[in-house]
Amino acid sequence: MRSVGLLLGTVHYVAAVAILPTAETAENCKNMTFTVEASATHIIVDTPSDAELSSTDNLNAYLQNLPVAVLNGVPGNRSGTFHLAAVYCVPSSTTSDTTTQFQSPSDSDQNPPLQILIHGSTYTKEYWDRGAWNDGNSTYSWRTAANSAGYATVAIDKLGSGASSHPDPVLDIQLPLQMETIHAVIKQIKSGKVGIPISGTYILVGHASGSSLGASLAQTYPDDVDALVLTGYSSGSSANTSLILAQEYEPAATSDSKRFGNLSYGYLLGNSLAARTTTLYYEGHYDPAIAVSDYSSRGVQALGERFSLGPKTVPAFKGKVLVLTGANDQVVCGSTPARMCSLVPDAVMNVNTTFSSSTGFEYYIPQTGRNVNWHYKAPVTFDVTFEKLDYLLGRSSPGWRVNADELSDG
Ligand SMILES: *[C@@H]1O[C@H](CO)[C@@H](O)[C@H](O)[C@H]1NC(C)=O
Ligand SMILES: *[C@@H]1O[C@H](CO)[C@@H](O)[C@H](O)[C@H]1NC(C)=O
Ligand SMILES: *[C@@H]1O[C@H](CO)[C@@H](O)[C@H](O)[C@H]1NC(C)=O
Ligand SMILES: *[C@@H]1O[C@H](CO)[C@@H](O)[C@H](O)[C@H]1NC(C)=O
Ligand SMILES: *[C@@H]1O[C@H](CO)[C@@H](O)[C@H](O)[C@H]1NC(C)=O
Ligand SMILES: *[C@@H]1O[C@H](CO)[C@@H](O)[C@H](O)[C@H]1NC(C)=O
Repeated sequence: MRSVGLLLGTVHYVAAVAILPTAETAENCKNMTFTVEASATHIIVDTPSDAELSSTDNLNAYLQNLPVAVLNGVPGNRSGTFHLAAVYCVPSSTTSDTTTQFQSPSDSDQNPPLQILIHGSTYTKEYWDRGAWNDGNSTYSWRTAANSAGYATVAIDKLGSGASSHPDPVLDIQLPLQMETIHAVIKQIKSGKVGIPISGTYILVGHASGSSLGASLAQTYPDDVDALVLTGYSSGSSANTSLILAQEYEPAATSDSKRFGNLSYGYLLGNSLAARTTTLYYEGHYDPAIAVSDYSSRGVQALGERFSLGPKTVPAFKGKVLVLTGANDQVVCGSTPARMCSLVPDAVMNVNTTFSSSTGFEYYIPQTGRNVNWHYKAPVTFDVTFEKLDYLLGRSSPGWRVNADELSDG
């Protein structure tokens, strides 16, 4: 695959204006759209009819049978030209220099490391920056925390999500093509021609299926990024069918025609607030209002996103790896009595064998479920994350800024 030109129409050089940025506004950010050509080998299966997807019983039967259908699928080449929506933000503390930064893309030593943020299924790039929640309080914004820690960020809507292209939900929205489109975006960014200055350090940060995409990218294109930060990730985990059915999926187009009326029926929307909340949050350790806002702004899942869970091992990648898992992540650790990952140490602790050529850390975030950004522990989670990342990247000496006691009460 090859990357082609950038669609310039929606690029706003907001950071260049002389307004004092604060953590609560996004004046150090600009919206972007990348246009890329990509192709990948996918699993081709019979496409279900709209009638089949419209009936709950038939859809559930289809979801239950999916692993078998995937096994019986045949390989086929899918390709196209796609638009990917993104929001790029620079560290707040360096905003006074950003005019220079945008105009001097070759000065890589001066430029902050860039985090490429990849959301999980049923989310969009907004996952990383819910500053608008909580009355504009940015407590739960990974983006704000990263910018404050000196990292630039570019959060991207994956192919099939948010404001990015929505091609065939069964045949096109599978992990390989999603990964190839991100690879093409990284290539454009590294060219220095898209309004993002060339950096010495690129980091892919994923959540859930965004982490699987990161692992897939690191195995296929090991030189694309210098480090991976994987949240809500465990290598080789398998889908829990009853958890999937509990989400009460329906075609998004009929479920919420206002937001998704134009999408074909293989784009699904989960319609159970209760199931979404228990799957993604750990009871008693999050603000219930956030789970409700999360539900009302939830995004779609394309059927093809269920076809691949990513590589089980990533021996090709020689960079740094940081894996962060909520100690009470039901999807990674299963419904053990107290949803305690400590009871299933293999779920996360096999990460160092998965990334056999990398160095890094893995750890559990106490009192936290799958959405690591949106629990009360988020500020501590962010501190620990960026401290460990700084250390892995050689930006700081070893040692802890964070009091270990804060982490030991899980
Ligand atoms: C980016 O686009 C979103 C939605 O389209 C809009 O709400 C936001 O203000 C834009 N941000 C910037 C920095 O232009
Ligand atoms: C798919 O087909 C296109 C067009 O023929 C080709 O350029 C591309 O290399 C193929 N991709 C794969 C993954 O086979
Ligand atoms: C922001 O929200 C957090 C968590 O709800 C709360 O502890 C903090 O006091 C809030 N800060 C402000 C300035 O409102
Ligand atoms: C659906 O597509 C039409 C025509 O392209 C467009 O005008 C409309 O805004 C779209 N609606 C939604 C909900 O995206
Ligand atoms: C799958 O999810 C269901 C519903 O939450 C739960 O009862 C069951 O224990 C889970 N199975 C595994 C193996 O985790
Ligand atoms: C992987 O990490 C675990 C926990 O830190 C450790 O017990 C194990 O020995 C490590 N395995 C390898 C192969 O390094």
